[in-house]
Amino acid sequence: MKLIKRASIAGVAGYVPDNVLTNDALEQMVATNDQWITTRTGIQERRILKGAGLGTSVMAIRAVKDLLQKTATDPATIDLLICATITPDQITPATANIIAHAVGATRAFSYDLQAACSGFLYALDTAAQFIASGRAKKVIVVGADKMSAITDYTDRATCILFGDGAGAVLVTEAEADSGYGIVDTICKSDGGGQHLLYQKAGGSRWPASHATVEAKAHYIHQDGQNVFKAAVTAMSEVVVEMMAGHQLTPADIAYLVPHQANRRILQLVADRVAIPMEKVMLNIHKYGNTTAATLPLCLWDYESKLKKGDKLILAVFGGGFTWGAMYMIWGYDGCKMM
Ligand code: UT7
Repeated sequence: MKLIKRASIAGVAGYVPDNVLTNDALEQMVATNDQWITTRTGIQERRILKGAGLGTSVMAIRAVKDLLQKTATDPATIDLLICATITPDQITPATANIIAHAVGATRAFSYDLQAACSGFLYALDTAAQFIASGRAKKVIVVGADKMSAITDYTDRATCILFGDGAGAVLVTEAEADSGYGIVDTICKSDGGGQHLLYQKAGGSRWPASHATVEAKAHYIHQDGQNVFKAAVTAMSEVVVEMMAGHQLTPADIAYLVPHQANRRILQLVADRVAIPMEKVMLNIHKYGNTTAATLPLCLWDYESKLKKGDKLILAVFGGGFTWGAMYMIWGYDGCKMM
């Protein structure tokens, strides 16, 4: 859907924990090896949040505080804060409430949004709608996940993939007639994928019990091969749909910003949409799959390289299934420091 009053990203920040989990360390934990992990996934290391009682909000608060500081934003001027996560601190209250309170966003209403690995794009689209309607002028969108909390470190099929991290963006109204900002978003979902990527227990259907813990039902499970195929097809198709809808050629695109689940997925998507890998943002080698945090962490890592007017296509795929693409025209040069 095309937006009338255009929203734009006015700043980006991120936070990853100091603790590094390398492929060598995983070799000591499960039957795997660095060569398998590197060639099959592109992941070399990931960050893990250590410490009793520390949840997703700890990382998100660090990212949002940095964002507020670097954009010289008074937290009391924030209208809305959305946190995309599948690993909230608790079931209730929303992690977004905890973040908003901690950063002093006293006027903001806040809530969590759950769309698995597509969460950040869905949340950014929601923020853009609030800006377009005039209901909000300043929105913070956070993508944050402590995947180590729901990862089984005896299961080699999943424990090599995930990492912890948080990224945040400030979304404001684009300068009038500037042409910058979020131009268009396509969000899709299909619950037919529910049995291929899931965390079974901990919700209302399978509340926590001795049996669910013994069955390891609080950990994330996936049918890797089928998710892989679905991710390649869905992300490629939605990027092609977005580019065709705006008469964009690969040469027009400064960067493709894809969800970081597997480097081979990214390579296949890039090939199918004919965008060269040097134009694909990558952080999977150092952070693994951080679920809702992959996109804002990519923007954070590449912020210094971005220029006003750069055309970006964001693309996501995750549990649900959920997927989508966003076309935006970047609104500032280099790292935002006010
Ligand atoms: O972010 C949300 C969306 N998630 C995704 O998009 C993830 C999509 N899936 C994937 O990225 C890949 O399917 C995985 C990385 C999960 C697995 O890679 P794969 O190339 O699909 O491997 P596979 O499951 O087909 O397994 C191939 C072999 C198997 O052994 P056999 O049966 O051929 O003897 C596995 O048991 O590799 C074995 N294997 C491992 N070997 C060493 C599976 N995991 C490991 C491991 N180390 N960690």
